[in-house]
Amino acid sequence: QEELSLRPQKLSQYIGQSGVKDNLTVFIEAAAMREESLDHVLLYGPPGLGKTTLATIIANELGVQIRTTSGPAVERPGDLAAVLTALEPGDVLFIDEIHRLPRAVEEVLYPAMEDFFLDIVIGKGPSARSVQIELPPFTLVGATTRAGMLSAPLRDRFGVMSRLEYYTAEELKEIVVRTADVLQVEIDTEAAGEVSRRSRGTPRVANRLLRRIRDFAQVQGDGRVDTAITNRALDLLQVDTLGLDEVDHKLLRALFSRFNGGPVGVDTIAATIGEESHTIEDVYEPYLLQIGFLQRTPRGRVITEEACSHLGLERS
Ligand code: ADE
Repeated sequence: QEELSLRPQKLSQYIGQSGVKDNLTVFIEAAAMREESLDHVLLYGPPGLGKTTLATIIANELGVQIRTTSGPAVERPGDLAAVLTALEPGDVLFIDEIHRLPRAVEEVLYPAMEDFFLDIVIGKGPSARSVQIELPPFTLVGATTRAGMLSAPLRDRFGVMSRLEYYTAEELKEIVVRTADVLQVEIDTEAAGEVSRRSRGTPRVANRLLRRIRDFAQVQGDGRVDTAITNRALDLLQVDTLGLDEVDHKLLRALFSRFNGGPVGVDTIAATIGEESHTIEDVYEPYLLQIGFLQRTPRGRVITEEACSHLGLERS
């Protein structure tokens, strides 16, 4: 399937995140040399930067299976026990959004991570007893948008912590060219550059925009992605020259006109523009902070001069 082959399968095919990649290469090789399971890995950073892809690659490089679940999906300790006891030696267990694991489940995870055993209570009241089950050695790969939202005891049990960063325009361009190749769509170098500059440092965004531009190219052009069709499509998709979309614009404009440029709290901004605080904090803010359009102060968020000038907002 197209979606599957879109994702790189090996570290050597993975573009960008060179620091993370170089370190993982060493840790994977060392674990293989010692014939041990790889230490638990925590991947954190904004959404769309390739945490799931990396987890899959780690399993591929280790030559083991990957089991995937997510924090909210594991509701009770028994759910986690079922997943853990189904693992084979050396397997990767990938838990996405690991910061959303219920506390009771987290506590079952501690001994599982540390000593590969399960300590669970069965039954209720006076007849309740605790049973211990040995587990095969495994590698937990956890992903989260914010490491700060993990409890300290959980965070401390990861031997490897890797932060994914926004991609440079050059790296994104390579990814866009690679994706175009997988999708078998012709793309100009210049057009690839334009897509990469307008994808907020995020491969998921770049690949999504490329698909939409391909639609325009197919229906309104000759199928080829050139600069003209790219610019037209991105304008129609309301993605501006820096990759900011309608929500970014709404957020910045609200901050400017309703709150005098700030400082104002995230919850207040969220309520004003009708978005979830979490979405703003995890998706929108990190990039606006990164490009210097927002500043975080103890009293809240403040819009910067650069943002005002990009949006053509005049301070009175
Ligand atoms: N597709 C999405 N992310 C990628 C990456 N980091 N490298 C190569 N292809 C990708």
